[in-house]
Amino acid sequence: MFVLRRINVDVAKRFFSSSAGVHAAKVSVLGAAGGIGQPLSLLLKKNELISELSLYDIVNTPGVAADISHINTNSKVTGFIPENEGLKHALSDSTIIVIPAGVPRKPGMTRDDLFNTNASIVRDLAAAAVKYAPKAFLAIISNPVNSTLPIVSEVFKKHGVYDPKRLFGVTTLDVVRASRFVSEIKGTNPKDENVTVVGGHSGVTIVPLLSQTRQKFTEEELKALTHRIQFGGDEVVKAKAGTGSATLSMAFAAARFTDSLLRAIVLGESGIIEPTYVKSDLFSSEGVDYFASNVELSREGVGKIHPLGSISPYEEQLIGAALPELKSNIRKGEEFVANN
Ligand code: NAI
Repeated sequence: MFVLRRINVDVAKRFFSSSAGVHAAKVSVLGAAGGIGQPLSLLLKKNELISELSLYDIVNTPGVAADISHINTNSKVTGFIPENEGLKHALSDSTIIVIPAGVPRKPGMTRDDLFNTNASIVRDLAAAAVKYAPKAFLAIISNPVNSTLPIVSEVFKKHGVYDPKRLFGVTTLDVVRASRFVSEIKGTNPKDENVTVVGGHSGVTIVPLLSQTRQKFTEEELKALTHRIQFGGDEVVKAKAGTGSATLSMAFAAARFTDSLLRAIVLGESGIIEPTYVKSDLFSSEGVDYFASNVELSREGVGKIHPLGSISPYEEQLIGAALPELKSNIRKGEEFVANN
């Protein structure tokens, strides 16, 4: 691990040297003053592949940016608010745009309950990306991700700049949780527990493929673990008692995803695989055009979309339950853009 990191830093140094003739990576965070946005921006400040960190929110980003900018890593940090064409400056020349803007859940809410507020926020930010950074890669965190990625896609299609390889729904937190939860019951180190989580990012659409892990589980363990991975977000919403949903673990997960994407698109590293929610043909024959599965990242963004591989009858059942829900979430997002 240490050796790999060292190589990355060396490659990064070469990358940033002007003789390499490549542009350095600007990463924009939209919703940067929020519960996820702040710790995510902090973690991104540590990323050696980022030369410019652009923090946008409707409030408070000048303060967040001033604070983070004192950290002694190389990147330049700037905060933008809507005044003085802030969004335009925040987005221009961005390599990656990460979007955690929008409202989070309160106890008793599903992610779909956030649709009415977040759909228009995400639509408008996607329209700004079309205008100011049409070639950027977008990582969508705002919920409901099952619908917000289709929303972003429809906005890009409307303007004739759609490239599905550049648009991602971030489901990394489900993978991070799954790894941690397995390690907790098996008494192992989570770094050795890799769980592929497929489907979408809400309740029954979250399908962990536990049969593909190195562990064996009893039927009881399987059911409990699956439920915990599907509804892990609720544990946090409940514990935060009305003050929000997962922010710190989400920031960790989004920073990991952004780093993986940077290594693929900027450094051209091969073999980087992240489960993520993308435009996918895996279940398009069943009318489900977006699906999370293992995706090999490439310089173009989405590289190879891996098939699910061999799954257990229990997992087949879970996929069966996920598909109709996903289909309806996707349609809801698409219809929103068509009608608004
Ligand atoms: P938060 O309310 O703490 O922060 C959201 C930020 O977005 C606020 O600072 C707000 O001012 C900003 N914002 C609102 N409208 C905006 C606009 N038009 N342009 C730019 N910024 C805008 O919420 P939190 O906890 O950071 O969550 C953000 C979103 O992430 C929620 O939708 C939540 O459900 C989602 N989420 C997604 C997860 C995933 O795994 N994909 C996990 C956890 C949360």
